[in-house]
Amino acid sequence: MNKKISHVLNTLEKRADYEKKNYNEIHHDERMLAITKDTGIFYNILLKIHKPKKILEIGTSTGYSTLWFADAMTGKNSKIITIEKNLKKIKLAQKNFSKAGVSSMIEIRQGIARDVLIQLSKSKKSNTQDHFDFIFIDADKEEYSFYFDICLPMLKKGGIIAADNIIFPRRFQKHIKKYLNHIDRIPHVESITVPIGNGQEISFKKK
Ligand SMILES: C[S@@+](CC[C@H](N)C(=O)[O-])C[C@H]1O[C@@H](n2cnc3c(N)ncnc32)[C@H](O)[C@@H]1O
Repeated sequence: MNKKISHVLNTLEKRADYEKKNYNEIHHDERMLAITKDTGIFYNILLKIHKPKKILEIGTSTGYSTLWFADAMTGKNSKIITIEKNLKKIKLAQKNFSKAGVSSMIEIRQGIARDVLIQLSKSKKSNTQDHFDFIFIDADKEEYSFYFDICLPMLKKGGIIAADNIIFPRRFQKHIKKYLNHIDRIPHVESITVPIGNGQEISFKKK
């Protein structure tokens, strides 16, 4: 693993531990709400096998998950686009990417994910070469099905759409159930729930 990335991840894990213990004292806008470390390791290994060139992430926060993805990308033209609405978090993410030495491969798009994705899908429509190999959904749960539908045409065949918070926290269950029922009905997609961290849904676009 890249030493600089690993160092930043360690610092963020300390912050995540602090957040867990002092959850109610931290304002919602200041929370990292990051994937767990074992989830990071899981995606890092998955992506080292999958060898993606282009990744799309919905929900950057301070960039913890993005850094796990960045570590798995080795090619010269590797690129991650990550979407976040909160400017404060974007500034922290930028600092983290810079410290980890990966700023050049990561493009943060600021805005409401729905709007950013509509724009992105228009630009990607004509160029299948430019499609993503891996898409990670980790933002507002009520929008998961919309994110899936708009992302699927931007995903290469053989690509993966993954989503966090499939099992925990339980308060999201209504939205998650809808998401799972929704993707279950989509042809040419195979999905499985993996009980790592807060629960991951891995959906494979068949070739
Ligand atoms: C669970 S956190 C992401 C954690 C991050 N993936 C990680 O593991 O480090 C969700 C993030 O999505 C952002 N978000 C929520 N709804 C959004 C929306 N509609 N558009 C853009 N960003 C959104 C929040 O501000 C928050 O930072």
